[in-house]
Amino acid sequence: MKLLLAALRQTHKAAVHTGQRRRRSSRGGGGLVALREEALVVGSSQELVRRLGSQAEVRTGFITEEEEDALLRELEPGLKKKRYEFDHWDDAIHGYRETERARWGSACEEVIRRVRSTAFPEGSPLLGPVHVLDLDKTGYIKPHIDSVKFCGSTIAGLSLLSDSIMRLVKEDSTDEWMDLLLPRRSLYILRDQARYNFTHQILKDEESVFKGRKVPRLRRISVICRNLPG
Ligand code: OGA
Ligand code: MN
Repeated sequence: MKLLLAALRQTHKAAVHTGQRRRRSSRGGGGLVALREEALVVGSSQELVRRLGSQAEVRTGFITEEEEDALLRELEPGLKKKRYEFDHWDDAIHGYRETERARWGSACEEVIRRVRSTAFPEGSPLLGPVHVLDLDKTGYIKPHIDSVKFCGSTIAGLSLLSDSIMRLVKEDSTDEWMDLLLPRRSLYILRDQARYNFTHQILKDEESVFKGRKVPRLRRISVICRNLPG
């Protein structure tokens, strides 16, 4: 059980280390673009959003309130036994506790099955345990790329309890970026280039603004499924 989380943590550290370049704040002006009707993805240019749109997807209302409750009922007892971690300066995540889960009750099992059948190609070998990350209201995830050694081409995550903003920044060209609004109970899927060539991060509450509108970042739990490297 410890193994996966340790590996991901290594990843976070390494990615923070190599991802030194900071995004310049060149986001003024015309680049805000609606990908779909819901306009959950905006970016530095229309061309980028069009090109990467299918690799950085957000599905609103992927789970019902009842399913969110079922997940929380199953996850809260274990999470509550852990303390939020704040003070590891070299960690990619600030203000979090986490766990992983291989077996679920039947209501949750059905949700996980749906996430997997939506996000991954049939027959794609999956990482068995699901990763559960609980961010405190003051917590956030710094820019990083998940380990290519331990995780495959696709990352799919459910957001519970809070809306949030996931920012993708091109690793070798930091003027290229996309912001994904992740509403509570939505599913996001990062694939291929969006997963390998862009860092991802979850903005802290103070920075959580989407298309000029404040998106309050409360405590947020994500339930993340990954596949194995091919
Ligand atoms: C991670 C990560 C995103 C999320 O744990 O590597 O990027 O939605 N999590 O919590
Ligand atoms: Mn990640």
